[in-house]
Amino acid sequence: MEETRKSLLDDSFTSAMTLTNSGVPQVPDRYVLPPSQRPALGSSLGTSETTLPVIDLSLLHQPLLRSRVIHEISMACKEFGFFQVINHGIPSSVVKDALDAATQFFDLPVEEKMLLVSANVHEPVRYGTSLNHSTDRVHYWRDFIKHYSHPLSKWINMWPSNPPCYKDKVGKYAEATYVLHKQLIEAISESLGLEKNYLQEEIEEGSQVMAVNCYPACPEPEIALGMPPHSDFSSLTILLQSSQGLQIMDCNKNWVCVPYIEGALIVQLGDQVEVMSNGIYKSVIHRVTVNKDVKRLSFASLHSLPLHKKISPAPKLVNANNTPAYGEFSFNDFLDYISSNDFIQQRFIDTIKKSSS
Ligand code: OGA
Ligand code: NI
Repeated sequence: MEETRKSLLDDSFTSAMTLTNSGVPQVPDRYVLPPSQRPALGSSLGTSETTLPVIDLSLLHQPLLRSRVIHEISMACKEFGFFQVINHGIPSSVVKDALDAATQFFDLPVEEKMLLVSANVHEPVRYGTSLNHSTDRVHYWRDFIKHYSHPLSKWINMWPSNPPCYKDKVGKYAEATYVLHKQLIEAISESLGLEKNYLQEEIEEGSQVMAVNCYPACPEPEIALGMPPHSDFSSLTILLQSSQGLQIMDCNKNWVCVPYIEGALIVQLGDQVEVMSNGIYKSVIHRVTVNKDVKRLSFASLHSLPLHKKISPAPKLVNANNTPAYGEFSFNDFLDYISSNDFIQQRFIDTIKKSSS
C-alpha cells in the first residue's frame, strides 16, 4: 500500500483543483471527450424537459399516508430509478457542516491530500482525481475522497485528520444517511411486494462508501465531464449536491438535468436493487457536467450489502414467467471487475445479465 502511494507521488498526478487554481485557459488534452460523448450544454438536442419526481418522506411515518408514498416510490423507481426526497429528517445544519468540511478538505495543500492518494480501488480510504488517474484513457474533471463509513467506529480513524473538524462533521452526516437509507430500503422492498425487512440482516452489516466529490470550475465545460455515464454498484445511493450538475438518462435515452432543490437529497437506485428486483427496477444511468464559474461539491453515499455478500433476484419475484434475469454478485465482485476492466466500455451489470434465449 505504501509503495503504491509513494510511486504515485512521482507520477504525473495533477488534480482538477490544481489545474483550476493555476488558471489554465483550456483543459489539457487528456480531458477532451470524443465529440459524440460531449454534454451538449445549452442545446436542447438530446436532452429532455421531463419533470422528475420529488417525494415528501415525512408522509412515510403517517400510517394513513404510507401506502400512498410507497406507490409514489414505486412509480419513480419504475420510470426513472431515481427521485428526490424532501422532509427526509436530516437537519440542514448537519448537511451544511459536512459541505463545509469537504470544502476545507479540498482546499488543503496538495501534499496533505496526497497522504491519502491511491489507485487501488480496494483501499478503504482513497483520495484521487478523475475515476482512476493511473488507468483512465479520458480524464474527468473531478477530485474525490472516498471512505468506508459503516460501521463508523471501524473506519473513522482512517479518515482525513485534516481539516480537524472533518471526522466529526462528515461522520455525523454519514450516520444520518445510513439511518435514512434503511427507511428507503424498507419502502423500496415494500413497493416491490416484499417484506419490509427483506434485506434487514444484510443491511445491519452493510457497507457504506461515502464518495465526496469536488468538481472545480472548468474552463471548457462543453468538451469535458465531471463523471462519465455510469450506474452505481450500490443498492441505493443518497446524493447531496451543492449546485446543479447531475444528469440522469430517461427511458428514451435522453439526458435530463436534475434540478437543484434547496434541502432535498437525491435517491438513485443502484445495480444491487436492479438484481434484487429481477429487473422490475433498473439502476439509473447518470453523469456529471461541469461548470465554467462554480465549484460544485457532492456527497454520494453508496449503500450496499456487506463487501462479500452476494445479491440475487428475490425468490418471491421469480416464477415460471419471470425466470432469474441476473446472476448474483457482491460489492467485492464489482471492485474486482473495475480493477481489471474498462467499466465505461461495458457496464458491470451487463456482465451478470442472463441471456433470455
Ligand atoms: C458518484 C456520482 C454524482 C455527483 O459518485 O457515483 O455519480 O453528482 N456522483 O457527484
Ligand atoms: Ni454515480
